[in-house]
Amino acid sequence: AFRALGTRRVLVHGDGPLVDTVFAEVARACAAHGGRAGRTGTGATSGDAPPVGPVDVALALRTTGGLPSAVPAGASAVPGPDDGPLGDEGFLLTRVDDVTVVLADAPAGLLYGLFHLVRLGESAYVGDHPPRAHRPALRRRMLDHWDNVAVHPVMGQVERGYAGGSIFWRDGAPHGDRDRLRAYGRLLASMGVNAISVNNVNVGLTEARLLTDRLDDVVDLADLLRPYGIRVHLSVTFAAPVVLGGLPTADPLDDGVRDWWESTTRRVYARIPDFGGYVVKADSEGQPGPFSYGRDHADGANLLAAALAPHGGVVHWRAFVYDHRQDWRDRTTDRARAAYDHFAPLDGRFADNVVLQVKFGPVDFQPREPVSPVIAAMPATRLAVELQVTQEYTGQQWHACYLAPWWREVLAFRPWGAAERSVADVLADVPGPGPRRGGDLVAVANVGDDPFWCGHPLAQANLYAFGRLAWDPGLDPGALLDEWIDLTFPASTVGDPALVRETLHAVLDDSWRTYERYTAPLGVGFMVNPAGHYGPGVDGYEYSRWGTYHFADRDGVGVDRTCATGTGFAGQYPQPWSQVYESLERCPDELLLFFHHVPYSHVLHSGVPVIQHIYDTHFAGVEEVVAMRDRWTRLAGVIDRAVYDRVVERLDEQLRCATEWRDQVNTYFFRKSGVPDAKGRHIY
Ligand code: GCU
Repeated sequence: AFRALGTRRVLVHGDGPLVDTVFAEVARACAAHGGRAGRTGTGATSGDAPPVGPVDVALALRTTGGLPSAVPAGASAVPGPDDGPLGDEGFLLTRVDDVTVVLADAPAGLLYGLFHLVRLGESAYVGDHPPRAHRPALRRRMLDHWDNVAVHPVMGQVERGYAGGSIFWRDGAPHGDRDRLRAYGRLLASMGVNAISVNNVNVGLTEARLLTDRLDDVVDLADLLRPYGIRVHLSVTFAAPVVLGGLPTADPLDDGVRDWWESTTRRVYARIPDFGGYVVKADSEGQPGPFSYGRDHADGANLLAAALAPHGGVVHWRAFVYDHRQDWRDRTTDRARAAYDHFAPLDGRFADNVVLQVKFGPVDFQPREPVSPVIAAMPATRLAVELQVTQEYTGQQWHACYLAPWWREVLAFRPWGAAERSVADVLADVPGPGPRRGGDLVAVANVGDDPFWCGHPLAQANLYAFGRLAWDPGLDPGALLDEWIDLTFPASTVGDPALVRETLHAVLDDSWRTYERYTAPLGVGFMVNPAGHYGPGVDGYEYSRWGTYHFADRDGVGVDRTCATGTGFAGQYPQPWSQVYESLERCPDELLLFFHHVPYSHVLHSGVPVIQHIYDTHFAGVEEVVAMRDRWTRLAGVIDRAVYDRVVERLDEQLRCATEWRDQVNTYFFRKSGVPDAKGRHIY
């Protein structure tokens, strides 16, 4: 992917560690592909290599002295009247007098400019490039690793990890493969990620100590990732003052507790001056939290925020709070309501450096859910929307499931109606009513120590698309896939680039919808095997304590979440959505069973009765997987053998599992309803 850059004469101008990284990348590319790299600057590092005379490419920090003469004078023109300053991470790209120029006002901008050039390939060095400013829409673009230091007896080492062990730890000690960690930092920077939380939100005893006597582990990771512009964050347990500090309480209003967090946090910053902050899962699925002391989540979050504020850190406080010991007989409790009920009343009470981290949907990372109503309910609170790149509920990196189209829908959702701001606008702080504060996009990571990074080689496309959407939520999923294909299967390394592109699109473009077709129907969710969340288990959660039910009986299926007759969840949305979701007639088909309990004979907007829709989509989903597999086999001999084989292995399993889903779901609903398939296909 660096070939186009590496064949040219490239000048890097500027000082500082991130510019060192840029220069090292350029020098490496030029050494590999026959170009020449030069460096100028004002500081000590400027002696790396002599300037090269006339250049084809210049990457220059505008703040480092005057620009060298190799940068054409016209390049520094202001891009346009609407464009403000480039900021901490932005860059300007233009082409003047046959020189491709990247300008930035801060070192990170130069780094992102470099990777932009790499993405553009040859096209960066031909034709016209009128000056254009590029800036990230969102300030923080973050991955949360659910990695444990120790191997968990049930979850393995990485909770909901499907790519082997942790890349950070092995056998309870820091992972020895430092090159891989550097490569990971480089990978993340190339797609725009600038923050990472290194450990699981369920914080075990060993992992709790990363904050104190195991801080060296975190220092080391921060040192390795810093050259790529990535700040390290840490998941902490709210009970830390007790379990680590030996205090009798973790009460957020206790002075001793406050002092403990302050001094502990000070020690962290003494070692990691650019430490990002804390991630906290409190009063959630058994994790400790402020409720134990009769305090609320604003008290809890503000305690940690106060300790972090003097150092510029933030606390990501997760809104994933619900009753995980529900009684399935109790129809008044609705898990979907929980985050809003807990947090909306606290709007305005959170400190400025608290980021409330909200899962994109009200339940739990399902392949289809409405967008969480919390996002529209907290205008005075900084928000992060949390996505799940790791495919817990979307095939666990055994199934090809390209999630960018789904995330794009979430980010493009307009909670206040078509003329108002989207979720992405809220996060990007696009002006609107109320004192909006902007926010972050966060995702649970999907990499491990697997040779292909993600278990499924094609799951890398999700990682890539996440970073790019966090940079620019308006990007098109198909175009992102093209970028990923060009970077991952460069034309010079594959037998037939056009076939590779066509095949990857055929396999991935619609793969999320395919997955949706053969799993739980019409937004009802779950129906997964409770042991591991993989494969079908239609009633797996129906009589459990987890609050995820579908209520299928002989007459119908779905959850009544209306205000008129159900749990009232639909009323947590502003207009127009509360009315749309409340209405059986207006509710979108794909969310029908999330909001309504309907008879099997209910006719969808598509004109098909619910029961027939279930049969049709499940048959179609499996046929689509068969087609995906057939398409993929055309790449035999065209791409790297190991990648090809790994994907074949995964597609075989996807087909087996999708068939199981089809047959269990169809058989279940046929037995419940007694309604035969109108098309006479075989149902067991
Ligand atoms: C899901 C997942 C858990 C995880 C939790 C969370 O419920 O199954 O493993 O801990 O989400 O987001 O905290």
